[in-house]
Parts: sequence; C-alpha cells; structure tokens
Amino acid sequence: MKLVAINGSPRKNRNTASLLAQVVAGAVSKGAQAELIHLRDHNYKGCISCFHCKRIGSKHYGRCAIRDELTPVLNKAHEADLIVLGSPLYFSTESSLMHACMERLFFQYYLYTSAKPPLSPRKKAVALLYTMNVREEDIPLYRKDAAIAISKGVMEHLFAPCEVFLCTDTQQFTDYSKYEVDVFDVPAKLKRHKEVFPKDLERAFALGARLVL
Ligand SMILES: Cc1cc2nc3c(=O)[nH]c(=O)nc-3n(C[C@H](O)[C@H](O)[C@H](O)COP(=O)(O)O)c2cc1C
Repeated sequence: MKLVAINGSPRKNRNTASLLAQVVAGAVSKGAQAELIHLRDHNYKGCISCFHCKRIGSKHYGRCAIRDELTPVLNKAHEADLIVLGSPLYFSTESSLMHACMERLFFQYYLYTSAKPPLSPRKKAVALLYTMNVREEDIPLYRKDAAIAISKGVMEHLFAPCEVFLCTDTQQFTDYSKYEVDVFDVPAKLKRHKEVFPKDLERAFALGARLVL
C-alpha cells in the first residue's frame, strides 16, 4: 500500500507540513509506504490548456503532456493507492502551488464525455487537508467551505470517497510581536496552538492510519 502526501504550503515545517508528516507517520504505522512531497521544492506551472491529454490517438491521452518538475509528482500520485493533498487556505482557496498541481493532476483524467468514466486510476481512499487562520465557527461566515467542496467533489469524481480534514485558527507566526497584527486575539491563538494543535497532530496521525485500513 502506497500513500503520497503532497504539501501545498511554501513553508516546509509549519502547520500544513507538520500535519501531513503525521498523516505519513500514521500510514507507516499500519505498514504502508508513505512519502511527503513538498511542492515548494519543484519548479512547475499549472495546466497550459494544450489538450494533449484529451486528443484522440495522442500518446499523452489521459496523462499530462507537460514535462517539468511536477511530472514525477504526478507519476507518484498516479501509482499511489492513497493520495492526501494538503494546503493552507489562501484567499479562501488552495495555495497557488497546490492549485497548479491540482489543475494538472485532475485535468489529465477528466473527459468531456459522460459516455465513459474518467481516465483516473481509482484509489483506495483520498483526503484533502486544509489549514487556515479562521476559527471553525467562522468558516461559513467567510465562505471558506466553497472551494473545499469543489475540490472534494473533483477528488470523489476521479479517485475515491474523499475525507476532508480541517485545522483551523492556526498559529501563523512564531512571534506575533514582530508584525503589525490587530485582527487576531493573539494570546488566544497561542493558547490554542499549545493546547489544540497537538490534538490536531494526533487527528492527522489517526487519519493516515485510517486511510490505510
Ligand atoms: C497569501 C495568504 C493568504 C491567506 N488567506 C487566508 C484565508 O483566506 N483564510 C484563512 O483562514 N487563512 C488565510 N491565510 C492563513 C493561512 O491559511 C494559515 O496561516 C495556514 O495555517 C498557513 O499554513 P502553513 O503554516 O502550513 O504555511 C493566508 C495566508 C497567506 C500567506
């Protein structure tokens, strides 16, 4: 059983990456092979709308034709039994690193016909993991759930039932006093990071273990 976790945060050791590392650890604890890929390490673009992946008779039919540093990542996702995509919310959607990756991962498999199923290999399970500044109760207020629902729908159309994992009210800076910040209750954020984030890490570990079973 192979799990690929993809980190769409440009930060390789903060909220999203730490949670994904726990997903990987949870999967490994159940005997899976698991890898955490940081998109920040790769130089690539989003879909360029070349349509080689849809052209009848093309050698790229069903697979992204662009050759760049995302190609091996797409290949690993293609081969994996389990995919976990993790991203911070940036302006209420995935980061541009993750969005560009999703365009290429998803669109290669999409068909403009309802006569056939999508060209994606079915997966055992998939998950989307998001971190964000807003508190859980404010998600509907700021419509943070709209983009998440779309991505979940695409993941389910292409791959498998998709679990959504949310980590809210995250600690963005180690030292808030170094920045101009007056929209957050900083002591409350620091308290939450100390008390709730460790539980979020445990939830992420449990997610990794659960996906494998
Ligand atoms: C460019 C940018 C845009 C952001 N937009 C949002 C947003 O729309 N909603 C939100 O709740 N948090 C937003 N955030 C905060 C991040 O989602 C949050 O701090 C996240 O946990 C960071 O993940 P990381 O620590 O893994 O980098 C934004 C952060 C940045 C840098």
